[in-house]
Amino acid sequence: MKPAKKLYVKTYGCQMNVYDSGKMVDLLAPLGYATVDTPGDADMVILNTCHIREKAEEKVFSDLGRIKDAKKDGAIIAVAGCVAQAEGDAIIQRAPFVDIVLGPQTYHRLPEMVARAERARQEKLGKRFRLVDTDFPVEAKFDFLPEATGPQGASAYVSIQEGCDRFCTFCVVPYTRGAEYSRPAKAIIEEAKNLADKGVKEIYLLGQNVNAYHGEGLSGQSEWRLAKLIEQLAQDLPQIERIRYITSHPKDMTQDLIDAHRDIPALMPYLHLPVQSGSNKTLDQMNRQHTREFYFNIIDKLRAARSDLALSSDFIVGFPGETEQDFQDTMDLVAQVRYAQAYSFKYSIRPGTPAGAYEDQIPESVKEERLARLQALIVQLQFEFNQSKVGQTVSALFERTGKKPGQLIGKTPFLQSVYVEANQEVMGTIQSVHVTDGFANSLAGVIV
Ligand code: 5AD
Ligand code: SF4
Repeated sequence: MKPAKKLYVKTYGCQMNVYDSGKMVDLLAPLGYATVDTPGDADMVILNTCHIREKAEEKVFSDLGRIKDAKKDGAIIAVAGCVAQAEGDAIIQRAPFVDIVLGPQTYHRLPEMVARAERARQEKLGKRFRLVDTDFPVEAKFDFLPEATGPQGASAYVSIQEGCDRFCTFCVVPYTRGAEYSRPAKAIIEEAKNLADKGVKEIYLLGQNVNAYHGEGLSGQSEWRLAKLIEQLAQDLPQIERIRYITSHPKDMTQDLIDAHRDIPALMPYLHLPVQSGSNKTLDQMNRQHTREFYFNIIDKLRAARSDLALSSDFIVGFPGETEQDFQDTMDLVAQVRYAQAYSFKYSIRPGTPAGAYEDQIPESVKEERLARLQALIVQLQFEFNQSKVGQTVSALFERTGKKPGQLIGKTPFLQSVYVEANQEVMGTIQSVHVTDGFANSLAGVIV
């Protein structure tokens, strides 16, 4: 057997990128590539990049600089993901040692690109060889992606939807990931079955706007919505004890999906439902297409369907034109919803987005100060949510070991990490845990 070639993959950004990186690894396995943990001795390096905020993008270029110095002679360097899609050729101008630039819609062409790069190395083409592929091809990439081959953990991602048609004025996703596309239900169910056969107990259905899912139904049925897909997965695959979906838009939170939270026990009582702002004026300028009242109404319906539902959201502070009153409206919304968890970001201008051209940009110092206030509130609410579970018995899926010997970390239905002392045999299983303590970021408990 030929010695394996070493592949180093670094993933930035969202779960979709984690899923995509896994697929790229599976795609390159037949070419003899096996993953390693450091770039230094790798024969090929892939950076799977994120373009959502300025910081994520800058990180890619600083990492590229470091990899240039550390990489093995002759290593192939590829930049994939959303920065690749957005910047294309410009990446090679800024980092001329990059061999391959490929966008998220062309991963299925990666093996061919790598084979060509390898040939170029043999023929010593040097800088004359560069490949840039940022097409939105007509063929659906998903039809060409391989099944997961290697061992799987207890929890796995399945991409079911990609792209977004909502065009929030701050967001690059509609440009980098393109128009909404939903995979057919059949392909998704097959992929989930393969994972279940490998011992997976929890799946995350992924999409940039996942609750807008409208894929082809089974055996020639018309389009299915997300609720129907989840119902079928729960019915066909009882081994999958936990189903989650991420990320959703409030406007696509239809009644059938709300009802699914009441009717499908495998659907976990945790929902990431980003609202971004609590100010109607800001929501309008963000083109979110709904009001704060509309959002509250959805939350009420969800809690009526599933009273223990834990909620999380994303927030942007310092969106152009945001006044102190607009920000207070956000603080008020957060306090009213009482999120179990939330992510907050300073607004950053993204090239080509409408809000980037708005005149009333907010000074950095104001953004920072608002972010600090919002995060303090979020941290407090998260602590209170964790505290509220003390004394209760919750289920936990065990996937990781803790830092201390004998310590394992499980995940509750509400996405909290719970630390227990337990035997390694518990790994990969779901156990009942009595919660003894609640902290800012985790719980402690004992298996019952
Ligand atoms: N600036 C700051 N945050 C942003 N997000 C998306 N675009 C921007 C931007 N230009 C945040 C949103 C989104 C999350 C994934 O990233 O909150 O929900
Ligand atoms: Fe971006 Fe989400 Fe808005 Fe789509 S719905 S444009 S992915 S923030």
